[in-house]
This record gives sequence, structure tokens and C-alpha cells, in this order.
Amino acid sequence: MTLDPRDLVAHKRAGKPLSEEQIDAFVSGYVAGEVTEAQAAALLSAIFVLGMESAELDHWTRAMLHSGTQLRWDLERPVVDKHSTGGVGDKASLVLAPALAACGVAVPMISGRGLGHTGGTLDKLESIPGLSTELGVNELKRIVKEVGCVIAAQTKDLVPADRGLYALRDATGLVEALPLIASSILSKKLAEGLDALVLDVKFGDGAFLPDVAQGEELARTMLAIAERFGLSARVLHTSMEQPLGHAVGHALEVDECWQVMRAEGPEDLRELVLSLGAELLDAVRFVRDLEQGRELVAASLADGRAAEVFVAMVEALGGDADPLSWPRARQVDLMTSPASGVLDLTSCRAIGRAVVALGGGRKGAGDRIDPRVGVRWMRRIGDVVRAGDLVAEIHHEGLGLEAARAELEGALAFDTGREPAPLVRARYG
Ligand code: URA
Repeated sequence: MTLDPRDLVAHKRAGKPLSEEQIDAFVSGYVAGEVTEAQAAALLSAIFVLGMESAELDHWTRAMLHSGTQLRWDLERPVVDKHSTGGVGDKASLVLAPALAACGVAVPMISGRGLGHTGGTLDKLESIPGLSTELGVNELKRIVKEVGCVIAAQTKDLVPADRGLYALRDATGLVEALPLIASSILSKKLAEGLDALVLDVKFGDGAFLPDVAQGEELARTMLAIAERFGLSARVLHTSMEQPLGHAVGHALEVDECWQVMRAEGPEDLRELVLSLGAELLDAVRFVRDLEQGRELVAASLADGRAAEVFVAMVEALGGDADPLSWPRARQVDLMTSPASGVLDLTSCRAIGRAVVALGGGRKGAGDRIDPRVGVRWMRRIGDVVRAGDLVAEIHHEGLGLEAARAELEGALAFDTGREPAPLVRARYG
């Protein structure tokens, strides 16, 4: 590295924006192992506190993007993807990717693993026996070409700078900085060579950024980067005040997605898939308007084409597509309502924590998860219940049951008068 990383840290800490040359030198030096983790953490920490100007943010995003391979496509179809900031029971990707592929667009969906109270799409899919999402670039492209979609892990050549820097941010408490989040997400999505992107930014207690205003700012920051890089992008700002669907826990969520692809399953999950799918089909002018986009996605769920693509994707990833082979917990305990009244959920995050307590989540990056366990939360905020009515099923293997029950019971409230937020509170872009 031609520049001394300590000079960059001092420059940023003095409140001056980093130049393109400084950023390129830092990011390439980091990937080459010439910048130490301590130096990188010092710079990230200064960015965390001081933020980034828009030109600086573009240079940062571009340097991350150029740290590895970028996908190029020679398909006849538009290439689209969705990214969610994640939440409790957020499984929409597992339905959306095959549904869009069934509509005729290509979806190379690079996803992440779970950490903390939220589960990861890759871990959910990998609850299917035999299935692996760790692919090389050629394999990933082959599956997209043959099946229409793939859900896969970030390969080692795609944005390697983000791999390292994200792990470092996670280890040093530097994740929640809007410019770092926006550039981390956008650099990966830009590397996918997309024609359009939809971002599902979550708000509410179950979300990674619960605050509505912060979610709006993240949405605006990501849209501005996408626009400056020429990527067509839209954002839906959606509720995580309560779980999406009923199922929270890996195999339970895959099963619930399978139901939606069989024209059954919970209405909110189906609704979100239609809304996100319609935005993408509309963005690539595949349809006349959003309404026609919704109809196209809905038809792929109703007539079994999305399910067929899902089966083909699972098999291409080495998995057993027979739902009877998917893992299930051996014990199911029921939780009933302790009182009568209008039900509220004061903490959606508590349901995620309950699943972690049952063994279905990671406390650290290397932890193993039990894909069988989870919670089926059967109620919506505002439901009228009577004492003794079913509120939740707890699918468990004996571990952590008391802690999980305490989390769930602690999150229940009655007659608070709170109105639930709409599933989609705003769209941008
Ligand atoms: N997801 C990402 O990919 N990056 C972040 O920084 C935060 C969430």
C-alpha cells in the first residue's frame, strides 16, 4: 500500500472526507492483507462517528465493488434481485425467487446467514437435507441459466472487501452505521450485474433498524447510490412489528414457504411476495404496471409453476425436494393465552430470541443451529382472544424451553389500544 493507513485514519478523524485515491488504497490494501484489522477498525470507527459525504460514499462503494469479480450475463431475460434488511420470520426470498423465475426473469439471489435474533435465508434453505448454498461463480451462473433462479452464498470472489469488513464491523460493534450498511449492501448487489433491484427495508421491533426515520434514511441513501451507479432500484418499507407469516425457525419457515407456493399459507407472506415481485417486474418493464405484475406473480403461485421452479432449484443445489424428508422437531408444546382481550405483541424480537434459546440461532458466527426448532406464532396484533385460546406452538428438542416460554409470555400484552402498522407503510424509488 502506497499510503500509510494511519494517515488515512488521522485525515478522516480530523473530519475531512477521504479522496478516491485514499479509499482505493485502503480497500485494496485491506484485501491484500497490507492494512491490519486494527487499522481497518480505527478507520471504520471514524466513519461510524463522522459519516460519509455522497462522493466519498460512491468511491467507497466502487472500491468495494471492484475488490472482486462482477457477474456478467448473456441471458435473454432481465436479471433482478431483492434484498431485505432482515427480520423475524422474514422468509419472502424463498418464495419470491422461484415465483419471479416462473414469471420469466432471472434471479441470482446472493443471500446471507443469520446472526442475532434474525434468521438467514441460506440457513433456512440449508435445513433441506443435502442442500448446499456454497457455490462457485460458474455453478451459480449455470443454475440461473437452467432453473431461472438460485439462492446462494456470497462466493469468495464477489466483493471480498465486504466479507472481511463486515465480519470486522460485526466483531467491533460497528454494524449500525448507515453509510457502511448502504455501501455493503449495494456493492454486493451491483456485483450481481442486475437490471433491477428491490430493497425491503424493515421497521419495527423485529427489524435490525427498528426506527422508522432511520429506515427511511437508509432507503434514501441506498436509492441515491443505486441511481448514481445506474441501477434501477426501489424500496418497500415494511413492518416487522410482528413476524411475517406464522413460522419462525428454519425448517418451519421453509415449510410455510412451500405452502404459499402451493396456493396456501399465510396471507401477509403472500402479499409481501406479490408487492416485491410486482415492483421488479414493473422496473424491468416486463409488465404494464404494478397491478399486472401482482397478477403475474399470483398466477405463478396459484398454478404451481413457482413450486416447480423451487423443486428444480433445490435439486440443483443437491437437496431433497420431498417435503416429507424435511426435518421436524420431535416435540410441540402449545402456549395459550393467559387472559381475554385484544392481543398485542410488545416485542417481535422476543420471538426471534425464543427461537435462539431453543437452539435455532447463532450467538457467534461459528455456532451450529438446530433447523428443526422454532415457534409458530398464530396471532396478529389486534386479534380478539379468550383465555385458553392457542397463541403459539413451540417446536423443540427439550433445550431452552423455559427460556423460550419466558420470552414469548413476556412479549404478550392485552388491550393496549395499539393499532398494528400496515405491512407496507411506504414505497420509494
Ligand atoms: N447487511 C449487509 O449486507 N451489510 C450490512 O452492513 C448490514 C446488513
